[in-house]
Amino acid sequence: MNSEPHPTNPKRVRFVELSAKALRALADGDLAGGSAEAGVALDPHFVGDRARWIFGYRADQLAGDPSAAPWITRAAVSEPDGAVVGDAGFHGPPDEDGMVEVGFTVVPGYRRQGYARAMLRALLVRAAAEPGVRTVRARVSADNTASLATVAGFGFTRVGEQGNERDGLVIVFEVPAEAIETGHPTASADTTAVPVEP
Ligand SMILES: CC(C)(COP(=O)(O)OP(=O)(O)OC[C@H]1O[C@@H](n2cnc3c(N)ncnc32)[C@H](O)[C@@H]1OP(=O)(O)O)[C@@H](O)C(=O)NCCC(=O)NCCS
Repeated sequence: MNSEPHPTNPKRVRFVELSAKALRALADGDLAGGSAEAGVALDPHFVGDRARWIFGYRADQLAGDPSAAPWITRAAVSEPDGAVVGDAGFHGPPDEDGMVEVGFTVVPGYRRQGYARAMLRALLVRAAAEPGVRTVRARVSADNTASLATVAGFGFTRVGEQGNERDGLVIVFEVPAEAIETGHPTASADTTAVPVEP
């Protein structure tokens, strides 16, 4: 496992902001409204039960803290074909210690093609460029083999665990901003087509 882009088929993604209105539409199960608001054709996975819950949570978060807008989840669009392949972002702005936590989901039909790595790489490129970010955290369920494989090789080290075997063990990984390893980001993560900055 490593963080280098796939040698023959590197994936590239750009991010499209999901406004509070788009998030609320998705939380309400309104795929057409969410897509219209986002300006891209979102996948039905964006209105699955879990996605609706998460987007509702993020909409509430934005209502309470509009400054979170540049940080939280965005739609990830594959380049150059334009397919919406997932969503990814940080859980919020850097906390008082300069920590941001990543989150990412790939639409089932696009899994195992390198998109999660491309999305995570793009998030890490951004985090490394943000003066306010000192540490990036990833929390991964111990039984989430795919996610464990995704975070491997970017410089993350295991710093702890949460929960328990019965309720589900979560492994906590962190990487200092200056130790992030993203390989050759321009080969697989286009963060310039739609800037992630506000
Ligand atoms: C975890 C998830 C994002 C991976 O997305 P993906 O696009 O399939 O991942 P990639 O194709 O970029 O693969 C990344 C690594 O995971 C491995 N992987 C992906 N799916 C796997 C699976 N089902 N079993 C074992 N390994 C898997 C890949 O082989 C690759 O490792 P490698 O570089 O060593 O070969 C996706 O399965 C998903 O959205 N799951 C549900 C949401 C979730 O768990 N999000 C993460 C929360 S922390």
